[in-house]
Amino acid sequence: MEPLPAGWQDWDAARLAAAIREHNARYWDENAPTISDYDFDRLVEALRALDPDAPALTALGPSPGALGDPVEHTRPMLSLDKAYDEESLHKWAAKFEGDLVMTPKIDGLACSIRYEGGRLAVAATRGSGEVGEDVTINVRLMDDVPATLPTTDPVEVRGEIYLPLSAFHALEGDFANPRNTAAGALKHKDPVRFRAMGLRFFAYDVLGVDIDTEMHKFDLAASWGFAAVEHELVTRENVQAGYEAYVAKREQLDFEIDGVVFKANRLDEQARLGATSHHPRYAIAYKLQGESATTWLRDVEWSVSRNGVLTPVGIVEPVKLSGATVTRISLHNWGLVQAKGLSLNAQVVAMRRGGVIPYLEAVVEPGDTPIVPPDHCPSCGAAAEVEGDLVWCRNPAGCRAQTIAVLSHYAKTVDIEGFGQVWLEKLLDAGLLHWPPDFYRLKPIDLLEFERMGEVLAGKMIDAIDARRVVALPTFLQALGVKDLGKTAARTLAERYGTLEAVRAATAEQLVELPKFAELLANRVVDGLAERAELIDALLEHVEVTPVEVVTAPAGGPLEGQSFLFTATLAAMKRADAEDKVRALGGTVASGVSKSLGFLVVGSEGKAGSKLQKAEKAGVTILDEATFLEKLAEAEAEVEG
Ligand code: IVH
Repeated sequence: MEPLPAGWQDWDAARLAAAIREHNARYWDENAPTISDYDFDRLVEALRALDPDAPALTALGPSPGALGDPVEHTRPMLSLDKAYDEESLHKWAAKFEGDLVMTPKIDGLACSIRYEGGRLAVAATRGSGEVGEDVTINVRLMDDVPATLPTTDPVEVRGEIYLPLSAFHALEGDFANPRNTAAGALKHKDPVRFRAMGLRFFAYDVLGVDIDTEMHKFDLAASWGFAAVEHELVTRENVQAGYEAYVAKREQLDFEIDGVVFKANRLDEQARLGATSHHPRYAIAYKLQGESATTWLRDVEWSVSRNGVLTPVGIVEPVKLSGATVTRISLHNWGLVQAKGLSLNAQVVAMRRGGVIPYLEAVVEPGDTPIVPPDHCPSCGAAAEVEGDLVWCRNPAGCRAQTIAVLSHYAKTVDIEGFGQVWLEKLLDAGLLHWPPDFYRLKPIDLLEFERMGEVLAGKMIDAIDARRVVALPTFLQALGVKDLGKTAARTLAERYGTLEAVRAATAEQLVELPKFAELLANRVVDGLAERAELIDALLEHVEVTPVEVVTAPAGGPLEGQSFLFTATLAAMKRADAEDKVRALGGTVASGVSKSLGFLVVGSEGKAGSKLQKAEKAGVTILDEATFLEKLAEAEAEVEG
């Protein structure tokens, strides 16, 4: 080692910077230092005293690669599993011990920052998860990222680079969104331009330290000078409330969030849960579904559905949401109004959740006037009944709103054009339409009675009806308006039974065997079709229902005629794979327990729950996992032999 040259204390900033760069390179890049660490630090301190912002001070450590060079991650940077509703969140949280850490999911760019010998060595984007892009030069210029750490152990800090909204809005020019702008900025080659963009960094993970909880990681990162992402310990009972609190304060944040991240706080539990190749099992992102807007609830109207459910619709102060002005929001149902403790004049958050109608997502401030369920139907005046989460009008035949909804549903489903709400109301009032079969009895002359109706339009409307005198079975089933007999269920039914007669003859016990036909839906369908016997017969006088080809399981498989249902967790394979194997061998997979179920397979992990009790009661054969696997192997051998 050589001593520092005499008189070095009198060097100016430029000379100090040059010396620091030279010795830094000798130490880090050439592995051949010529001055002691002590002397090197004296040079650094001297420069810091003269020019604390000198770029040479942030460039300490090994020379970075060029911007964009590939950087292999020490450990893969995974993505997060997602949840969209409270139920799946609770299911996930039931898998581990201890509390959860809640952080906002920042809509930015993931970044890994490695430190070696106490100095920032490499910073990289997530890239493929295995290999990212080198962004060291720019990350070293960020105020939120310390150039040195008090520890010389190799450690890695991961987090999100983002552009604050205030900085984004101050930009002049055409920038799509903060995230893309941040991604572009990170690639700037000019350090002055880069710094002017004002990117920030939130730390959410520390790797390479011996630590026991997520909360301690945040403390550590903060003690090193990082801005730790907002974090809070929550109990599993409070996850939904925690999420709603973020929804409520979303508009006050200076960064965009697209969800809330929950993690198991204890690292021993994290280790136990492990990860798939895509995402860790100990963390989940509860996603915000679309943009949200805060407004005030002023009134509640009750709209009448096809099935007589009175649904609350919130009338709110007009507010802009994804470009459109919103004045009405769905409040789901009466149960939700109660659960959220909603009252009039409450401050609420509306979110689009992918659909057209925005939903009530969270309550920010309670209101002052209680919401009471209606005691009569707003359409027909019949007494309304509250039952559980729902309020009902039990007067289907005499309720104008329900009649119109049934007609409208039929016309929309079988695709009869030209019969919007206004025409349906007129035709109902004129006594020409009461139920769907009436469409087919309409004649041009009936329509000509109405104002502003000419022969051309009347002819068109009747043609539109005539064009729908042949209806495919799945469409016909869906058009009947049985609750929950939607597109998918109607298709499944049609493909299994082929003809309307066969569908009408099916029992609930048989329907339970169909994919996704839980017991409840099976019963609803059978009851719903029976209740509509008269409607179906009347429609058949005018409509030809075309059958569909029955989709059969591969015939003649060794498991033909045997149905299986799974409960608890299989140790040997995924449930979906076991189900595929059963089907491939000619068996069927049931979706609920019934007397006609062949076997209930109880996996050897986790809890069996209510299916097992029901199956025992119904006298269904119970197979443990080992016996099931043997049966499967035998069947497979039969096919191969
Ligand atoms: S924890 C497995 N916390 O979301 C990764 N990630 O799909 C666990 N993200 O690319 C990361 N905010 O960059 C975590 N508070 C936060 C986050 C967050 C944003 C990003 C992360 C990753 C993506 C996961």
